Amino acid sequence: MAYINENYNKLKAGYLFPEIARRVKAFTEANAEAAKRLIRCGIGDVTEALPQAVRDAMHKAVDEMGDRSTFRGYGPEQGYDFLRNAVAEHDFKARGIQIEADEIFISDGSKCDTGNILDIFGAGNKIAITDPVYPVYVDTNVMAGNTGDADESGAYAGLHYLKCNPANGFVPDIPNEPVDLAYLCYPNNPTGAVATRAQLEAWVKYALANGTTLLYDAAYEAFIRDPELPRSIYEIEGARDCAIEFRSFSKNGGFTGVRCGIVVIPKGLMGKTKAGGKQAIHPLWSRRHSTKFNGTSYIVQRGAEAVYSPEGKKQVATLIEHYMGNAALLVEACKKAGLSVYGGVNAPYVWVGCPNGITSWQMFDKMLNEANVVITPGSGFGSAGEGYFRISAFNSRANVEEVCRRIAALV
Ligand code: MLT
Repeated sequence: MAYINENYNKLKAGYLFPEIARRVKAFTEANAEAAKRLIRCGIGDVTEALPQAVRDAMHKAVDEMGDRSTFRGYGPEQGYDFLRNAVAEHDFKARGIQIEADEIFISDGSKCDTGNILDIFGAGNKIAITDPVYPVYVDTNVMAGNTGDADESGAYAGLHYLKCNPANGFVPDIPNEPVDLAYLCYPNNPTGAVATRAQLEAWVKYALANGTTLLYDAAYEAFIRDPELPRSIYEIEGARDCAIEFRSFSKNGGFTGVRCGIVVIPKGLMGKTKAGGKQAIHPLWSRRHSTKFNGTSYIVQRGAEAVYSPEGKKQVATLIEHYMGNAALLVEACKKAGLSVYGGVNAPYVWVGCPNGITSWQMFDKMLNEANVVITPGSGFGSAGEGYFRISAFNSRANVEEVCRRIAALV
C-alpha cells in the first residue's frame, strides 16, 4: 500500500458546490412537484448560448482538423501565438498596459490555474487569503500541506485570514505584517465587491515593500461597468514586479463548459530561494506547464480568439448586459424585501444579509424548501460569510424575474 496525502483529511467533507448539489438532489428526489419549479442561482455557471462568433470559429477549426493539410496535433503548451497575441493586444496593450504575448499562458481555466500555481511555490510561505473567499484558494493550500488543521470556525492554522465585511466594503485592509503570498479577487467572488484603484495601489505598495507576490484573480473583470475601476492589476504601477494575474473566458465568453483561461506572469517577477537568492517565476510556470499540461485544444483556442473579434466583442457585451440586467433586478428585489444587499453592480454576484439573524445554511434551506430557489450559503466561503447568502445572476431573464417574485413573497 502506498502512503496517501493525508493533508486531504484536513479538508472539510465536501467542496462547497458538490455539497450544495447533494442537498438539492436530496430535495428534488423527495419533492417531485416542487422540483419542477426549482430555479438554480447557486453555482456561478453561465446559462446563455456561446456567442455566434465563437461557434463559427470553432466550427471552422473543427473543419481544419478534418483535413490532413490543416490538422493540428499537440500545440504549444503555453498556447498558440494567435491567442496569446490577441490577449496581449486586446486585454492589455489596447488599454495602455505593458504585457507581452510571451508573458501569457493559455490554460483550461482559472479554477485549475489558481490551484496549480502552488506547484511553483515552496513550503513555508506565509499565505494571506480573504474571508469570505473562493474556496479553491483555501482547499488547494490545504492539499499542498501549507496549513495545519481547521478550527471549529473552519479556519486553518497557518493561513492569514483577511476579514472582509461591510465596514471595509469587502476589500481587505492591508495586512499588519509581511506575507509571502496574498490572494485577491476583484470583482469579488462571492461578495460582488470591487477594489478601487486607490485600494489596489495600496496593495501593490505593500507587496513591493514586503516582497509579497499577489495572486490576482480577475475572472470577473468583464462585468465592471464603472470605467474608473481597474480591470487588471497591471493597471497599477509596480504590479509587474509583484503580481500574477488569472483571467478567464468562462464568464465573459460563456466558456464554463468549453474551458479556457489565462495566467499572466511578467518576466521580471521574482521569487526567493532558501539560500537567500532571487529567481524568476516565469520560467518555473513555463516548465510546469510544459511538464504537466499538453495545451488547451486548438478548437477551443480558436473559439477564445473569436471573443476579441469585432462581432465577438459585440456579442460578449450583449451577454454581459444580460447578466448584469439580471443582477440589477436581484439587487432591487432584495432591497425591496428589506434585506441588506452588496455587490451586483460591477459583478454578477449579489451578496445578501440573511434576515432575522438566521444562519446562511438555514437561509439556504428556507430558499430551497419554501421558494424552491437554490442560492449559496455565505458560510461556505468562510466563517466571515456566515449570516450572508450569494445569489448568482447567471440565469435566464424569466428565471430571475421569477426569483425576484419569490423573494418578495418569502421575506
Ligand atoms: C462559483 O459559483 O463560485 C463559480 O462557479 C466558481 C467557479 O467558477 O469555479
